[in-house]
Amino acid sequence: SKEEILFTADEVSKHNSLESLWVSYKGKVYDVTEFAQAHPGGAKNLLLAAGKDLAPFWGLYQQHSADHVQEILARYCIGKL
Ligand code: HEM
Repeated sequence: SKEEILFTADEVSKHNSLESLWVSYKGKVYDVTEFAQAHPGGAKNLLLAAGKDLAPFWGLYQQHSADHVQEILARYCIGKL
């Protein structure tokens, strides 16, 4: 499956804009470009984590630990680190 595709952290870091917005979380890589405009916390907040690991941000905004948020993220998985 596509979730077996491997990316480096360096490759993920290049996708750091609203045109191409990737994040990593717990060893998986997500392309959330399409989600940015729909983010309840705003596209600008999502952009803060663009190209990076979500963990430090989600540690600060703990509403993201809810199951429905994890399910949304899972839809955008494109591979792993
Ligand atoms: C709220 C998803 C990244 C800040 C939410 C909610 C979802 C979501 C579904 C609504 C939660 C609820 O009300 O039950 C995501 C996803 C992310 C992401 C999928 C990454 C791919 C971030 C980042 C930040 C952030 C990086 C901050 C730097 C917020 C804030 C809210 C929020 C402040 C609350 C908005 C409000 O209720 O007014 N996010 N988020 N999010 N998010 Fe995110």
